[in-house]
Amino acid sequence: MTGSVAPFGDLTYQVVTFGCQMNKHDSERIEGMLEALGARPVGTAAEADIVVFMTCCVREAADVRLYGQVSTLKGEPLRADSPLGRRIVAIGGCIGQRDGRKLAEALPNVNVVFGTHNLRSLPGLLREALDRQEPAVEVLEASDGFPTDLPASREHAWSAWLPIAIGCDNFCSYCIVPYVRGREKSRPFEDIAADAAAYRAEGVKEITLLGQNVNSYGRDLYGKPRFAELLAAVADTGIERLRFATSHPKDITDEVIGAFGTLENLMPALHLPVQSGSDRILTAMNRGYSRERYLSIVGKLRAARPDIALSTDIIVGFPGETEEDFQQTFDLVREVGYHQVFTFIYSKRPGTPAALLDDPTPREVIQERFDRLVDLVQDNAYRANQPDVGTVTDVLFEGPSKRDGSLLAGRSPKNQTVHAPLPAGTAATDFEGVIAPVRIDEAKTWYLRGTLLA
Ligand code: SAH
Ligand code: SF4
Ligand code: F3S
Repeated sequence: MTGSVAPFGDLTYQVVTFGCQMNKHDSERIEGMLEALGARPVGTAAEADIVVFMTCCVREAADVRLYGQVSTLKGEPLRADSPLGRRIVAIGGCIGQRDGRKLAEALPNVNVVFGTHNLRSLPGLLREALDRQEPAVEVLEASDGFPTDLPASREHAWSAWLPIAIGCDNFCSYCIVPYVRGREKSRPFEDIAADAAAYRAEGVKEITLLGQNVNSYGRDLYGKPRFAELLAAVADTGIERLRFATSHPKDITDEVIGAFGTLENLMPALHLPVQSGSDRILTAMNRGYSRERYLSIVGKLRAARPDIALSTDIIVGFPGETEEDFQQTFDLVREVGYHQVFTFIYSKRPGTPAALLDDPTPREVIQERFDRLVDLVQDNAYRANQPDVGTVTDVLFEGPSKRDGSLLAGRSPKNQTVHAPLPAGTAATDFEGVIAPVRIDEAKTWYLRGTLLA
């Protein structure tokens, strides 16, 4: 960076984020860096001198949307008092990594392109684009270090994401992530434990450990996974709520499963992506587990923690999926009774092995399967929430409900959204980051409604 104190001092910025928690976390670091350099966040592109898109290419729809959104910015007027006289548009994240310079060629209003491995280059690239009239592009093949040493601007002071590993080595046959995030690289155990302790000391209530596959944490550094040990060490800081994502079923160990029964602050919620209930499709997806093994993991989790809330990801319409394969997925979803299922229609990603497979199944047939599954998912979610009615649960409040300002919104240990009327004489802001008991009066499909007890 150039030497002045606040090089972006009069500038405003907006970061637009797509995709997974990795991108959301990276965006927090970008916001932290820009703010450390003096830039000020604003809510709309029309007010922003610098717009950064953190992109996702896991499915085709995300690609198309990005190109549309960036082009639209050309028509956005600049803020009247813009010191730049033009808007700077930067593209990072997974499309930045994949397309590099091609992005700047395809979208003439793009000034900066960076990738997933070099967040820290962004300020220098912005400076370069400002100084010269041509796009500044830098995409690296491998990571230049963990973004954790960059300043962060967290969405909520009381909740923090803590990356424990970056990249992915699993190469599921449909997935682009290993190509845009690189090889799995774990952070040293001591660094993570120290960060967790620091978060705890600054009053953070909830830590979510992040990785594409947290269960294999440490394999590259220590020759064996050390995730169970890491969980115990982070829990030991006394943090009130501990969560993690994402957990690949093939690598989950009995120790990690057991932790749900022994670590009090490990929240009873787990996202365990199954993708399909058919062994034939699981093999074609290169997932590394069978339907039976997945169900046995679910059984062990429920034995360790009977009230655990499970969620999953499902891909419908993987090439060659038959009605019988789909039925096995449908039955598995019904059998497990998930609290939440993220359903996706298979999207061909050029460069992945599955992109070479032909699929004779008509689009309408896949859509019909998808719709059937979504109905089941909603039905399951509604049923899964019913046993909570009449119970008292601790809620970590986030502030007013987005839909109705007279309601407080927060999260239960099982990660359900909980609404409760704001007590008379209080403001929603009084409750931000506060954990308080709520009696659950009603359970809907996607939220619980209750009464604050304290
Ligand atoms: N590492 C995580 C999540 C990665 S992407 C994991 O292994 O679970 C998040 C989800 O997107 C995946 O779980 C999968 O369900 C979905 N997904 C990935 N590639 C896809 C594709 N080509 N088409 C449709 N859905 C896809
Ligand atoms: Fe993609 Fe599979 Fe890696 Fe998840 S584990 S990021 S689905 S390749
Ligand atoms: Fe998307 Fe990249 Fe995450 S492709 S899902 S933002 S790792």
